[in-house]
Amino acid sequence: MVQPETPPVTLDLFADDHPQPPSRERIGEQSYLLRGFALPWVERLLPALKHTLLAAPFRHMITPGGFTLSAGLSSCGTLGWTSDRAGYRYTRLDPLTGQPWPGMPEVFRELAEAAAGEAGFSGFAPDACLINCYVPGAKMSLHQDKNERSYEHPIVSVSLGLPAMFLFGGHERGDKRQRVPLLHGDIVVWGGVDRLRYHGVLPLKHGQHRQLGAQRINLTFRTAG
Ligand code: SIN
Ligand code: FE2
Repeated sequence: MVQPETPPVTLDLFADDHPQPPSRERIGEQSYLLRGFALPWVERLLPALKHTLLAAPFRHMITPGGFTLSAGLSSCGTLGWTSDRAGYRYTRLDPLTGQPWPGMPEVFRELAEAAAGEAGFSGFAPDACLINCYVPGAKMSLHQDKNERSYEHPIVSVSLGLPAMFLFGGHERGDKRQRVPLLHGDIVVWGGVDRLRYHGVLPLKHGQHRQLGAQRINLTFRTAG
């Protein structure tokens, strides 16, 4: 039997983070898990992310109920998401710096549009990208994304860094949840009839990621305004 001397480039690219090549898995009527979809974009995403976070660093927001969110949050785009004692809302200015949120990097926008298209949502034009940073132990409680003005556009959620267990529930808080392990480069898209499904993230496990260290970064793209 003849063994190839060097593995094909595509396998090489995905080997570290993905035992499997990229694939598309339907996880709801209008929801898809795009395994490895972001991997070819990572080299361009990371410098853009770094640049964005210099202008709008991660901060720990307070919920209206007085709890501190365990994930660090930032945003880019025309609108950014904020939580404080007064409630949840989108703003044009970053309350931390008093400046407009940093613009959405072109590579972010391109990736979000491509992923939405792959999930059957053509013409997605996000105006907000929330950036979540999870360190080991950080989590995101079950919630619906419902601060956007309209629900006609999908949510595109990009995972980078350490793996996490994503919970994908139904339309009621108590509905059964699918457990979806998310790896570096995976994207979840939910929209249409699934747009208001509850979702969350279990506490991040300890680990070290080759490119991102001991953290997980999640980008969620929305049309908010
Ligand atoms: C979110 O729902 O805002 C974040 C989801 C995730 O981190 O995967
Ligand atoms: Fe969410």
